[in-house]
Amino acid sequence: MALDQIGDWERSYDCGTVRADHVGSSVVLMGWVQRRRDHGGLIFIDLRDRGGITQVVFDPQRDAEAHQRAHALRPEHVIGVRGDVRLRPEGMTNPKLTTGEVEVIVDEYRLLNTSLVPPFQMEPDVDAGESLRLRYRFLDLRRPNVFYNLVRRHQAAQAVRCYLNEEEFLEVETPVLTRSTPEGARDYLVPSRINPGKFYALPQSPQLFKQLLMIGGLDRYYQIVRCFRDEDLRADRQPEFTQVDIEMTFINEEQIYRLTEGLLSYLFKEVLDQELELPFPRLTYDEALARYGTDKPDTRFGLELVDVTPVFANSNFQVFKRQIEAGGIVKAMNLRGQATLPRSDLDKMQGKENLVNHYDIQTGAQGVAWIKVQEANWQGPVAKNLNDAEKDLLTKTAGLEPGDLILFVAGESRVVNSTLDILRCHFGHRLDLLDNKQFKFAWITSFPLLEYDISEKRYVAVHHPFTAPVEEDWERLAGHPERVRSRAYDLTLNGHEIGGGSIRIHDYDLQKQVFKTLGIDEVQAEYRFGFMLEALRYGAPPHGGIALGFDRLVMLMCGADSIRDVIAFPKTQKAACPLTRAPEKASLEQLLELSIKLDLSS
Ligand code: AMO
Repeated sequence: MALDQIGDWERSYDCGTVRADHVGSSVVLMGWVQRRRDHGGLIFIDLRDRGGITQVVFDPQRDAEAHQRAHALRPEHVIGVRGDVRLRPEGMTNPKLTTGEVEVIVDEYRLLNTSLVPPFQMEPDVDAGESLRLRYRFLDLRRPNVFYNLVRRHQAAQAVRCYLNEEEFLEVETPVLTRSTPEGARDYLVPSRINPGKFYALPQSPQLFKQLLMIGGLDRYYQIVRCFRDEDLRADRQPEFTQVDIEMTFINEEQIYRLTEGLLSYLFKEVLDQELELPFPRLTYDEALARYGTDKPDTRFGLELVDVTPVFANSNFQVFKRQIEAGGIVKAMNLRGQATLPRSDLDKMQGKENLVNHYDIQTGAQGVAWIKVQEANWQGPVAKNLNDAEKDLLTKTAGLEPGDLILFVAGESRVVNSTLDILRCHFGHRLDLLDNKQFKFAWITSFPLLEYDISEKRYVAVHHPFTAPVEEDWERLAGHPERVRSRAYDLTLNGHEIGGGSIRIHDYDLQKQVFKTLGIDEVQAEYRFGFMLEALRYGAPPHGGIALGFDRLVMLMCGADSIRDVIAFPKTQKAACPLTRAPEKASLEQLLELSIKLDLSS
């Protein structure tokens, strides 16, 4: 089909704007053909652009040639029309459309492009798999779902900038081709052609640069910045993602909490017209693990965990007793009033296979035990092994009442907590306790500075190696590193970690001491972070900051299930882009230029 040009036509407005007020005026609209219907000699087209849909009508009485040509229009063809706005006839209005009272009767039309038959329809509830949608993302973006998420994302970014500008922050860009910034993931490396055998690392975060900016006297910095981490992907993780990165000089934790709370309440008001309750509640790391089994608890619902180790320490229930003797714990979750939960729900929890398949996470738990608390008796494999005193203690500790169902997990505390965290979230969904319109923030504080990594046989930073330890704990760095608390904090929202930060080390000797505790010797420290150590010796001011996971935040604001839904061109679980087919092999010439020889045999 021969295509027309736009020529001197200019759009009057978008396809979501036409109203009864415009009746009688002549307008020019351009967009995509959503649908074509032929009725009683007339051809109706739903014309769509980012603003919405307007019905346009081709009438042979008005323009026989245009009407004739309109027969050839198919979904996703691109057209421009000129015509008069008129009210739709009685009974033909469409209350589902904002433009539903009116239509445009076409005087002239231009075919601007044709389209192949799209692999799925541009409707909100299209039944297309994600890989197909990502492969044809340029079509997926035409659907309202992703589009509105991107609108929200845009509004959120503007609100962040507006608030921080008002607070006198400077937006500064930092390098993308740089050296490794350890944030706990693998680096993406970029070979340097000019320096054969050498590599840049893409930043896992701008951590060191923002600290250098503070040492440079910039005082208040922010950046909406892309970060790169080569790690296993999940629904809320992408290999490249965006942070709202913030750093300030001469501040303490309270000031950072206040600034972040102010920023988020402004953001939620601007974008969602939601008032947030301030200040956000705070939980210590230990408290979060004790009550929820995780340091990113979903506090929209209860189902809190209780430690019931003392109940089983001397009981006849050998399975638990053995775990306790081996240094483990027993924790429980009381599902109030759920004694009638079907057997199939209980069976679903048993065995590793179920947990693995259902939750895609291997916790290593041996199983889940349960008791159904009934007025007359207690049912379940654990009950018959408890004497009256132990039953009393359990009743008191877990607040049991007739009709409750209590679940137990025993073993090493890390395993117990992560299993019960999964079960708690599972039952939160299953029992319909989650409300997507509710936003429950919580600060998690008092993290340990370090944790022992069994596979690496050394201490690793819980946050990153530039996090300041609590001053009273400095002297423990040498003898009891695991007992050093950090000045770090995380921010959680509805069970997701949406931010993290800390007061930093600004003292050269302390930074060297922390490197040493982390098993990074002087030579290594100099080699990897020499520039940072040097900068600390030139009057580095006390400073600290935070980074918010912008994709996660927008995902939760949009009520989306995955951050992929709020990123224009996301990667799959395999870190690939089905649209561009990245990553791709490099040509032999490119590899030669980079002095790289591949060995794919291992
Ligand atoms: P952290 O590593 O906690 O801190 O990162 C900050 C926030 O970024 C988000 N995030 C991610 N989002 C999507 N995909 C990922 N792969 C991913 N990884 C992290 C999370 C997280 O809370 N430099 C420090 C901040 C600081 O200390 O100021 C840092 O990067 O929401």
